[in-house]
Amino acid sequence: MKLFIDSGNIKDIETLAAIGIIDGVTTNPTLLAKEPGDFRENLKKICQIVKGPVSGEVTATDFAGMLSQGHDIAGIDQHMIVKVPLTRDGIKACKALSGEGIRVNVTLCFSAAQALLAAKAGATYISPFVGRLDDVGTNGMDLIREIVEIYNNYDFATEILVASCRHPIHVIEAARLGADIATCPPAVIDQMFNHPLTSIGLEKFLKDLEKSQAVKA
Ligand code: E4P
Repeated sequence: MKLFIDSGNIKDIETLAAIGIIDGVTTNPTLLAKEPGDFRENLKKICQIVKGPVSGEVTATDFAGMLSQGHDIAGIDQHMIVKVPLTRDGIKACKALSGEGIRVNVTLCFSAAQALLAAKAGATYISPFVGRLDDVGTNGMDLIREIVEIYNNYDFATEILVASCRHPIHVIEAARLGADIATCPPAVIDQMFNHPLTSIGLEKFLKDLEKSQAVKA
């Protein structure tokens, strides 16, 4: 299972990448808009840090505009993945860009039917948004289960990139269902490290060691 950071923040990405457990990064226009500087330069820096797949999203909504922005994004760095929305033009752009050997992440997926279309268009990644489905009272993980089943039935090569992860349980469930990737905000990755018994246990080990050293001294 691969773990991506869902962020455009260079500092956060540097900090987490240094630990050695990060496989890639996803960004979207909202995340990049929060960061200072030129978005192309920021994406280039992120690629140099993670040396793995980094998604950058088109903002055009028509096929020609998506193709042109897709070429521009793909030209930023060899690690760039072009992210397109799951619309008719987005699927058409996915098919065209994938045909040229450019890797595409189809985003804003909220149904299994949409995921099937993305796989047929040759998407490298499909991004179903579990958190946003939960927000409207629909279990996001049910969608992941359906996509895993459909993709396995036909051996589609498209990887399931579970997006809009809001807490570690989303990541655990994604892993249990056999999804390929979970992309998480830095705060969720931080939460994955934490367990109160780990902190309490470590504190006790260190105190016991200190006591025994004091007795021996
Ligand atoms: C994924 O690629 C998206 O950037 C992201 O996961 C959206 O998450 P949100 O629903 O928390 O904004």
